[in-house]
Order: sequence, then structure tokens, then C-alpha cells
Amino acid sequence: MLNISAEFFEDWRESARALALAEVPPEDVRWADGRARKIDGQADLFGCGDDVLPAPTSERTLHVPSVFLATAKTVSHHRDAARWDLLYRILWRMQHGERHVMNIASDDDVVHLTKLEKAVRRDGHKMKAFVRFREVTHEGDTCYLAWHRPDHYALRFTADFFVRRFDVMRWTIMTPDETASWDGSQLVFSPGMPKSAAKCDDEMESLWKTYYAHIFNPARIKLKAMQAEMPKKHWPTMPETELIDQMLRDAPKRVEAMLRYTDGIRSASTFVPEKVSLTSLRAAAKDCAACDLCEAATQTVFGIGPPDASLVLIGEQPGDEEDISGTPFVGPAGTLLDSILEEVGIDRQSVYITNAVKHFKFARSGKRRLHKTPSAREVAACRPWLVAELETIRPTHIVCLGATAAKSVFGPNFRITRDRGKQIDSDFAPWAMATFHPSAVLRSPDPEVGEKLTEDLRLVAASLSNATTS
Ligand code: URA
Ligand code: SF4
Repeated sequence: MLNISAEFFEDWRESARALALAEVPPEDVRWADGRARKIDGQADLFGCGDDVLPAPTSERTLHVPSVFLATAKTVSHHRDAARWDLLYRILWRMQHGERHVMNIASDDDVVHLTKLEKAVRRDGHKMKAFVRFREVTHEGDTCYLAWHRPDHYALRFTADFFVRRFDVMRWTIMTPDETASWDGSQLVFSPGMPKSAAKCDDEMESLWKTYYAHIFNPARIKLKAMQAEMPKKHWPTMPETELIDQMLRDAPKRVEAMLRYTDGIRSASTFVPEKVSLTSLRAAAKDCAACDLCEAATQTVFGIGPPDASLVLIGEQPGDEEDISGTPFVGPAGTLLDSILEEVGIDRQSVYITNAVKHFKFARSGKRRLHKTPSAREVAACRPWLVAELETIRPTHIVCLGATAAKSVFGPNFRITRDRGKQIDSDFAPWAMATFHPSAVLRSPDPEVGEKLTEDLRLVAASLSNATTS
């Protein structure tokens, strides 16, 4: 009898391959669940470590249908300790006269496999739907935290989804088994957290509740569906459930936006049309309600400029005057930008100018509307518009003005003082850079800020003219 332990799919595949090539039948292998052992610090039930894998005894190659491998990969995230054994038995049968066993839906092993696969998929779906991030600001950096208790090892199963959806945010999802953290470029797994580690202070909790009250669709029908969908065990970890009564009394003001809130995550991607041209994007963006900024602002301020522009300039968000006129960079920052562009010899009419966020965020102070910096969540929600603009225009040059635009395009690790004026690799254009925002020049008493912005835009002008002459 061989004792073999596997933690992840890749471990199992490697061992299963060696065992199959050594003609070791399933009844001669005892598979241990390396993952449960590691997580629970479980003692080795057999009182011994892994046995050494045998050397191959046959020359033959294994033929494993890809459908089986895909299912096996999903099933590897199930908590059932018998999953490795089941997978090896099916693999063995496929190599020994039952090549098409996966097609026999009534076969006991296949029935078991399908059951496990479905459970993992359902668990993954629930994880996507019920993970609620709380915003935490630490030393000026915003990150998002969530705690969730999946039935199985759904975190690894869904991690790619969260990376895709929140690629420009820093986030951490904790589960009792393990924790996943994304810093904008790397996904790291670390040990799990008990619920107590995820406790948040009252302020954070109330922020979280307000956020949830805004996005929750108080229509009864939806509530029923939600209650039916949401396993009881999730309720204690979701303080928003306390808000349900109150929300039911409130009129569903934002139903349109809420109906688009499908899987717990709000993003402009649900508003971006499939057939993309700048005209269709601009028209669709008028109706975007993917974040709360559309509530108080006058209108969506979409990018402007030629669809075949070589250079795209990206600002932060429209200001007071842009919000009223509907055009980016027409206020004081725009006037300064115009004069610098002229000074360095870039024709503004040839440039496509847009913003990372398309609605004006402000706080009222008497009659004045004072600019407020958009949160990482708002930037992430709005990013699909920017991505669609860049993918439609395919410029040769991109310049981000200020940290907000730079983080949206280059990721959250970007630092304006450290990284400005340098060429940065980007999927959106062969030449990309970030520099100071013209508003920073207007605010700063230090003349160097304006000089550096001009200097950086001069580099852009030089690279643009090189590109056209060569
Ligand atoms: N600041 C920006 O970032 N964008 C504008 O459109 C105006 C001011
Ligand atoms: Fe949509 Fe962006 Fe406006 Fe938010 S800021 S509503 S994501 S267009």
C-alpha cells in the first residue's frame, strides 16, 4: 500500500501520472488530503509521511481526455477527503478498457464526480455573490477587505474572477482555510483567518451598511430570491441583513442601477455596449449608473477628440465647469493644459482627452462645489469606459495626468513622485507615461511642479514627432 498526499490539483496530477505509469491499481494507493492536513494541522492519520513515487514500469503514454482534466481541476477544490481517490480510480478505469467512462452518466463514480463538481461550482457562485468588501484606508492607501466562509475551497477556484473584476484595487479575501491578497500585480495566498480577525470597527461597519443600502434592490421579489439563495450561515457575517426592513420601506429610487447589480459587484462593464465605437460608447455612457457619482453630478463627461488620435491624455475626473459643459478640461486646469500643450508643440485638436472617472465628485460648501478625489472603488467601477476608449482608439502614446489616472492605467502601486516622467510598459499603448496633473501645478506654490509637467510633455512631443517622421 502506498501513502500519497496531494494538496492541490497539480500535486495529484503529478502523482497520479507516476502511479498510473507504474501500473499501481487504485486499491493499492491511500490518498491523503494534504490541504486539510495543512489547514487543520491534522496529524498524519497513517503515522507516516508520503511514500516515494514508483518509477514507471510501462512505456505507454497516458491518454487523458481534457474534459476529465477540467472536471478534476474543479473537483480538486472540494472538501471531500475522498476526492483524490475517486479521481485516481476514474483515471485508472479510463486507462484500463473504460476509455469513455466519463460519458456514462449513471456510473457510480461519475455520479459522485458530477456531484462534487456541482457543489464546487455552486460554492464558487455563492462566493462571487456574497463577498462584500469593506474599504480600509491605511497610510493613505485604500484597500478592500472581505471575510467569507465557503463550504469548499472556493477561494482558489474564484480568485481569478476577483483579480479580473478588481484588478486595479488592492484587496484581501479571508476565509477560515486561507487568505488571498491582490496588490495590483500579484496574487498571494497565505494562511486562513478566523472570523474574529476580520472584525472591523463601527465606522467601517456603518460605511459598509450604507454602501449596501445603496446597491441593494429593495423590491420584495428580489429579497425573496435573495433569502432563498443566501444560506443561513452567511447571515451572521452580513450586517446588511439588519437593514432589510428599513430598505423595504424606502422607495426603490435606484432600481435601474440596482437591477444591473447582478453578482454583488458594480462595474460600468454592464453598461459598455458590445459593438464598440467612440460614438456608441459615448451614447451608452450617458446612462451609466454603475457608481453613486452619477447621482449628484449633472452629466457624464466622456472623452473628446479624433478616433484615430496618436496621443490620449487621461485626467482624473471632470471638474465643476466640465460637469456643466459636458466636455473635459475646459476649466482652469484645461486652460493651463492648453497653454503647455501649445508651448511644447502638441496640437490639442489632434489629442483625445478623457478622464479616469466620468462623473464629477464634489462636496458642497455653500454655493460652491469642491472637488473630491474619487475612491479606488469608483475608479475601478468606471475603468471599463477608459479601457473601451483605449481599446477603440489604440493610440501610440498615452499620458496619464496625476495619480488617479496613472493608478487606473498602470495599477495601484504607481507613485506619482517616484514614477512620473518615466516610460512605463502598458498593454494599451507602445509608449506610456504619467506626469503631474495641471491642477497640482495650480495648487502648488513650488514652480518646479509646472516645470516638470512641461518637461514631461516635451518628451511626449519629441516621441510623437519621432514616430511620425520615422
Ligand atoms: N481635471 C481633470 O482631471 N479632468 C478634467 O476634465 C478637468 C479637470
Ligand atoms: Fe458610471 Fe463612471 Fe459615472 Fe460611476 S463615474 S456612474 S462608473 S460613468
